[in-house]
Amino acid sequence: MHHMIEAEGLTKNYGSVTAVNGVSLNVAEGELFGLLGPNGSGKTTMIRMLTGQVRPTSGSARVMGLDVVENPIRIREVVGIIPEQETPPSFLTAEEYLRFVARIRNLDGIDERCERWFDLLEFPDKRDVLCKDLSRGTRQKLMFAQAFLHEPRLVLIDEPLINLDPIMQRKVKDFLRGYVRDGGTVFLSTHILGIAEEICDRIGIIHNGRLLYTGPVDDLTGSGRHLESFFLDLVRGDAGG
Ligand SMILES: Nc1ncnc2c1ncn2[C@@H]1O[C@H](COP(=O)(O)OP(=O)(O)O)[C@@H](O)[C@H]1O
Ligand SMILES: [Mg+2]
Repeated sequence: MHHMIEAEGLTKNYGSVTAVNGVSLNVAEGELFGLLGPNGSGKTTMIRMLTGQVRPTSGSARVMGLDVVENPIRIREVVGIIPEQETPPSFLTAEEYLRFVARIRNLDGIDERCERWFDLLEFPDKRDVLCKDLSRGTRQKLMFAQAFLHEPRLVLIDEPLINLDPIMQRKVKDFLRGYVRDGGTVFLSTHILGIAEEICDRIGIIHNGRLLYTGPVDDLTGSGRHLESFFLDLVRGDAGG
């Protein structure tokens, strides 16, 4: 079986802090995988290693068949990335930013692509507004648009629904489900259990940098067990042991 993401013993130390500790996992094509964990558990570091932004201390990973240490730039070209808490440049308008990204990625049909994303995420009225004057929610929409602009087969999203109002959250969840239904693959991180329960096919639970569990969401919810209690038991057991 061909996997979009394959990580083997992935580890990252920052000085004496082990942010990610020997994580092995695979994500199949067409899967919506959610990495769940409390703040500081290693989710962002994991995504940064998988997108060639941070070099692993040890272990290895391949993303769309590309080694993260050997091909970090190529990986960033082919996947879509929405980093945590990142915003578009303050001095560009929303449309200028999208055009800028489209040009870097050598895309054709830039007008149509921009049009499509402003319409899809419902902010055509904001296209000429400087990014510094956009609301946090609209900036996050713009970050979604840049990640999907080149129609990547894999998107990695760090805390996707932060800053979005409930209506937009609904749209983003539906959009992501539609994207995987059409064959796309999503790796997202979240500390919000409800998101994972609602939209993920499979989850991984990370705590103190260690992956404590991976499995289909259905295994938990289908068995009548609430994901929240499952998560808390795992994390408490880990802290105590
Ligand atoms: N650049 C860095 N330098 C030093 N420590 C870091 C750095 N990035 C993350 N850490 C530490 O690594 C751990 C995991 O952080 P992070 O991956 O951001 O977790 P999460 O995204 O789950 O909140 C935390 O203890 C954090 O303080
Ligand atoms: Mg984080």
